[in-house]
Amino acid sequence: MSSKTKLAALVLAGLGVALSGCARLDMQDQPKYKPQRPSEFFADGRSGRPELEGTVARGEMQEDSAFYSGRDEKGDDIAGFPIAVDKAFIQRGQERYDIYCAPCHGRIGNGLGMVVRRGFKAPPSYHIDRLRNAPVGHFYDVISNGYGAMLNYAAQIQPRDRWAIIAYIRALQYSENANVNDLSADVRSKVPAVGAPLTPEQKAAEASQPLVPKDPDFYNFPAEPATPSGVPGARGVGAYKTNQPERK
Ligand code: HEC
Repeated sequence: MSSKTKLAALVLAGLGVALSGCARLDMQDQPKYKPQRPSEFFADGRSGRPELEGTVARGEMQEDSAFYSGRDEKGDDIAGFPIAVDKAFIQRGQERYDIYCAPCHGRIGNGLGMVVRRGFKAPPSYHIDRLRNAPVGHFYDVISNGYGAMLNYAAQIQPRDRWAIIAYIRALQYSENANVNDLSADVRSKVPAVGAPLTPEQKAAEASQPLVPKDPDFYNFPAEPATPSGVPGARGVGAYKTNQPERK
């Protein structure tokens, strides 16, 4: 290498150092797209890319289709629970049922909840033969997708809790049709005989867990649903005329 070319190489190297000192290619100035900014690079003009077909986000794999859809491979409602049911699970269902379903379906599932007493369309009782014989998958479908006048509860109730609610509905249905001989002997002895006066113990049990709420409002409404089915809204045609002052 001649001394002239050596000098040129040195000058070039020096220039390089000087230039890279000015350009801030660090994290502050990194090349990137901000969310929702347009892009000229992609044909659709968007910088955000759509998910590839079939992409499954972490934690969102729903492999157990019976659990997530309530249907079998043929698309029929499943008849058996896709999840183990025990007492704690049913109690969880009772808690969720009392929050989300009882306002319309009533605490005992007779379809006479407070919202219905105030004029909403009355749902059928869970104790009719059709719903007693309906597969659990049907209940899952109603909660997930709604049914007629009833909106769906997919956003409010996660799949596991939907099954817990259904387990509790099954318990409610059984409670209306239980055979006293299914009880163990010691429990059976506590069941009052038809027409017999209640023992103090039974009276105390009934007072602590009344079937019908003790709220005096409850008794100011008729036993029959306020509105003929098909008439939504408390002020609709045929709505029950209450003598109570309008609530603000
Ligand atoms: C806002 C009132 C309301 C709430 C809350 C509500 N439902 Fe309903 N539900 C209805 C009405 C009204 C119908 C009848 C719909 C129709 O026939 O148009 C119904 C119908 C049903 C049916 C019967 C479907 C059939 O085959 O006839 C089931 C089962 C049911 N609801 C389950 C539930 C469960 C479980 C919950 C709680 C997660 C719930 N509902 C919450 C109003 C409600």
